[in-house]
Amino acid sequence: MSGAVADPPSRLVVGISGATGIAYGVRALEFARKAGVQTHLVVTPAGQQTRHYETSLSAGDLAAMADVVYRPADIGAAIASGSFRTAGMLVAPCSIRTLSAIAYSNGDNLLTRAADVTLKERRRLVLLVRETPLTLGHLRAMTAVTEMGGIVMPPVPAFYLRPSSIDELVDHSVARALDLLGIVVPDMPRWGE
Ligand SMILES: Cc1cc2nc3c(=O)[nH]c(=O)nc-3n(C[C@H](O)[C@H](O)[C@H](O)COP(=O)(O)O)c2cc1C
Repeated sequence: MSGAVADPPSRLVVGISGATGIAYGVRALEFARKAGVQTHLVVTPAGQQTRHYETSLSAGDLAAMADVVYRPADIGAAIASGSFRTAGMLVAPCSIRTLSAIAYSNGDNLLTRAADVTLKERRRLVLLVRETPLTLGHLRAMTAVTEMGGIVMPPVPAFYLRPSSIDELVDHSVARALDLLGIVVPDMPRWGE
């Protein structure tokens, strides 16, 4: 239609930080791609370490799963600006260090800057925080993020669907997180359906 401004494709910012459970971030990228959502990925140096320990993926393999990949030091990248429209941001997994930086608006790298932008633009921010047990400091940081409108979602498995593999546990948590961002994972078992 002449003169019409096309909506930008649905974009999701994905941050992978250095908590154990990089599988959550990997599956989120795979599900988003299947759903036709454009992914913008930033992986912290500690996230690259867990990739090395926990998967057989190279840094290049992981990068190939996203549509656009940024260096954590590239704080001038598109996702560092609120004018770059996105559907929101998922940090999976989210370390306590990254949680704390987000909680106190410390945009010290591109991941935490993009998360701060997501909050300031009142977009959806979902953090799959992974640590246990929790200190008062961790809980206070979670409270601060929640008070700013972010969603703290530790990837705690549900057993009522009788998962038979680690992949199923991961998929279920990731699908629930993507639900919060308006991205539907087809064929995901849901209670009552
Ligand atoms: C194998 C491995 C597992 C880790 N697991 C966790 C974890 O589950 N939660 C956490 O908060 N930090 C964890 N850490 C520590 C973080 O990687 C560390 O605090 C790092 O500074 C986080 O940096 P980032 O937030 O920039 O990714 C782990 C580190 C390694 C090497």
